Amino acid sequence: MKSLSIRGLLAGARRSRHAVAAKATSVSVPALVALLFFAAAAFSVFFLGSFCSPGAAVTSGDVVAVCDAALGRGEWVRDAGAAPYYTNATCAFIQEYQNCMKHGKPSMEFLRWRWRPGAGGEGCEPLGRFDAARFFRLVRGRSMLFVGDSLASSHVTSLMCVLSRVEAPARSRDADGFEHWRFPAHGFAVAYFWTPFQVRWRLTRGPPAAVGLDRQGEVFTGPSDLHLDEPDERWTSAARNHDYVVVSASHWFARPAVYYQHGRVVGCHDCAACNVTAAALRPEHAQRAAFRTVLRELARLDGFNGTAILRTVAPTHYENGGWFDGGECTATRPLDESDGTVAEMAATEAEFYRAQVEEFAAAARLTRSDGKKRLRLMDVTRMMLLRPDGHPDRYGHGGGEHDGFDIDCLHWCLPGAIDVWNDLLLQILTHTSS
Ligand SMILES: *[C@@H]1O[C@H](CO)[C@@H](O)[C@H](O)[C@H]1NC(C)=O
Ligand SMILES: *[C@@H]1O[C@H](CO)[C@@H](O)[C@H](O)[C@H]1NC(C)=O
Ligand SMILES: *[C@@H]1O[C@H](CO)[C@@H](O)[C@H](O)[C@H]1NC(C)=O
Repeated sequence: MKSLSIRGLLAGARRSRHAVAAKATSVSVPALVALLFFAAAAFSVFFLGSFCSPGAAVTSGDVVAVCDAALGRGEWVRDAGAAPYYTNATCAFIQEYQNCMKHGKPSMEFLRWRWRPGAGGEGCEPLGRFDAARFFRLVRGRSMLFVGDSLASSHVTSLMCVLSRVEAPARSRDADGFEHWRFPAHGFAVAYFWTPFQVRWRLTRGPPAAVGLDRQGEVFTGPSDLHLDEPDERWTSAARNHDYVVVSASHWFARPAVYYQHGRVVGCHDCAACNVTAAALRPEHAQRAAFRTVLRELARLDGFNGTAILRTVAPTHYENGGWFDGGECTATRPLDESDGTVAEMAATEAEFYRAQVEEFAAAARLTRSDGKKRLRLMDVTRMMLLRPDGHPDRYGHGGGEHDGFDIDCLHWCLPGAIDVWNDLLLQILTHTSS
């Protein structure tokens, strides 16, 4: 077994074209180290920001408040007796690429961990098990829209799997591309819309017929035109019919793209792949602009009186290569920082995270004066960074089933580590239902 060291993660960061800007290999090592250092510094600002002195005397009420504030920081603790909420046999919604049980992931050890918030000094308990009955009580008469890429879809699948233990949902797809899940007995509905950037976009070219291995990561789906200042109206117009909107978007921003503002080209990322001449812009700039557009749109949207939840980036864990040239994620345990290992994110992902947290804070200030709308942050970044063991690796897509994705360290096994996102969702609903 390969040990997951900072060096391994660094190597992954340097080589992964999927997770990192396309030209990561041309970044000098000192520059990369500087970026990662910067990312680590940004991390401690975010994660230590809400930290309260562990020495202070606390009442049990304070402990709850402190632990709620520290949800995104913490560690995975082993729970040998933990049983998954569902299995490949009890949930029919699990898709092939995430069905690690069926495809023979060698160890089910990745299912035996629970998230304990806080740095240890706060005395926080591991998150309680998901309680579908309590969830249904909180959402009766309401509806929830998820928008994002395949990871948002995975979150929906995970939620459907845990809720279907109590009520099997009716599933349908409408002509506008929305997937609907209805729970009539509990008066609850979920919708999902695939939009990997959340802003208006268009794929400008499919993958060329013959692409060398060295370029695959850059052109997997061809370049896109992204209108950074225009929300994708296909879902924002639907948002006002929902009480909760869960937004997320990260990894697609690492792809080649031409960026537009006010309908004019303002820059591009991997401009050669896009075949345009314009100012090179880093993907995190585009991501920041897109989140600014979308979060402000939700903050201002007429008739939307609900809660918008931003789920932050879930890091990839490619080691020894990228997603298309043999990179892998063979860890069988979460990262444990207590032995001095420092978990580091690929530089681009760290910058996505920073942009998301900052744009969230700016948009949240806008909603504060509006008693009806609420914005909540679902900060999963650190907990997922610590889970290199939670991806399908070779036990998702069958060989050749999905070009270049035979080894998958981007998506997550179901059941698996991202089931904790529902625990966080329940926590957020509990605190916003009053
Ligand atoms: C579930 O996984 C087991 C192996 O753990 C496999 O034998 C079984 O066929 C799978 N069932 C389904 C429905 O995927
Ligand atoms: C790139 O753009 C030029 C000018 O628009 C065009 O002639 C050429 O065919 C394009 N190349 C590709 C690979 O699309
Ligand atoms: C949202 O609130 C506004 C102002 O109170 C109200 O006019 C509107 O009908 C509400 N929208 C929904 C969907 O409840």
